[in-house]
Amino acid sequence: MTDSDPVIVNVALGSRAYDIVIGRDVLASLGARVAALRPGTRAAIVTDRNVAKHWLELAEASLAQAGIATSRIIVEEGEGSKSYAGLEKVSEALIAAKIERNDLVIALGGGVVGDLAGFAAAILRRGVDFVQVPTSLLAQVDSSVGGKTGINSPQGKNLLGAFHQPMLVIADTAALDTLSPRQFRAGYAEVAKYGVLGDEAFFAWLEANHAEIFKGGTAREYAIATSCRAKAAIVARDERETGDRALLNLGHTFGHALEAATGFSDRLFHGEGVSVGMVLAAQFSASLGMIPQSDAARVERHLAAVGLPTHLRDIAGFAQEGLADADALMTLMAQDKKVRRGRLTFILLEAVGRAVIARDVEGALVRNFLKAELLGK
Ligand SMILES: NC(=O)c1ccc[n+]([C@@H]2O[C@H](COP(=O)([O-])OP(=O)(O)OC[C@H]3O[C@@H](n4cnc5c(N)ncnc54)[C@H](O)[C@@H]3O)[C@@H](O)[C@H]2O)c1
Ligand SMILES: [Zn+2]
Repeated sequence: MTDSDPVIVNVALGSRAYDIVIGRDVLASLGARVAALRPGTRAAIVTDRNVAKHWLELAEASLAQAGIATSRIIVEEGEGSKSYAGLEKVSEALIAAKIERNDLVIALGGGVVGDLAGFAAAILRRGVDFVQVPTSLLAQVDSSVGGKTGINSPQGKNLLGAFHQPMLVIADTAALDTLSPRQFRAGYAEVAKYGVLGDEAFFAWLEANHAEIFKGGTAREYAIATSCRAKAAIVARDERETGDRALLNLGHTFGHALEAATGFSDRLFHGEGVSVGMVLAAQFSASLGMIPQSDAARVERHLAAVGLPTHLRDIAGFAQEGLADADALMTLMAQDKKVRRGRLTFILLEAVGRAVIARDVEGALVRNFLKAELLGK
């Protein structure tokens, strides 16, 4: 393999199978790849203002060169666009652009744009195909893989949505060069998650190579491809999350509660919440005797080494609001949509590299663990 050969990961979903093309500068091949799959198509590119500044012209030029006519729909950056108002804006613009059943929606951006444009594609004329061009690390390793699309309700995140698989994913690792270092780090938490939940050898590789991933180069491609392969394998087994797909929620039950406690604000990015959540899940597993304390410490050490928050006290404004209060965090966890009839489902560890789904975890155990955690800090 030379530096310029993209890595292709296939998501094996029968008639809905598709390729994820990963590599530096693969965005330039977007037009040719789309034209090969869908000759004569037209496309609307949905993106946000930040991404448009850096990558829209390149995407448009590639599509134009392949003879694909495009229109552009630019939303404001940030989670606020994943809303009824954002959906209305994108849907109306798609209709105005005359995107029809055989045309395409192209999502160029992070997870916000991918979820929003994917959902708009799922409901436009009862479903048009879409292509994901993820430009954040989180989107490249997580949100662009697996077909979950949707928007937020004022009552909670991701409460409205549809499963709608893309027909192609183009992950250009060079796009990450314009991402802020903090956003890159937050996305890295999801990369580490794949190691912790199912692949000890990958975790060990990350421990040794994380600096190279941040710098760019082939280590970055390898990390992204390995992450996509891990998610694709789980999604192929359980597309609609009736079983194993829940393993991907490692760190997320705690993490979502922390995001909610900080008002889903810039104080804590999603991946940062996942980082703290993963450490809590590992510590909780250790407190239940499922793994040695040294394994929990290993997970924490790696996340701290890349500069991610690993403790509740690392979160801005920790002492205020609900963050230092075990009962308030319990209430937030009970609102998580993964809760069934009041019993908590946690993803716990049997080893670094082996996560298990623990259903019906007693609330009192979690509360006591959090209280002890908070006392220790
Ligand atoms: N569908 C799924 O399976 C799934 C999985 C995980 C997360 N998500 C969703 O993904 C969203 C979070 O995704 P995210 O972290 O990518 O957030 P995001 O889309 O808001 O991107 C983060 C920020 O980085 C900017 N950005 C993105 N790419 C850039 C680039 N190449 N250069 C410069 N700036 C760039 C964006 O404009 C934004 O300001 C959440 O809404 C979450 O619910 C979905
Ligand atoms: Zn996540």
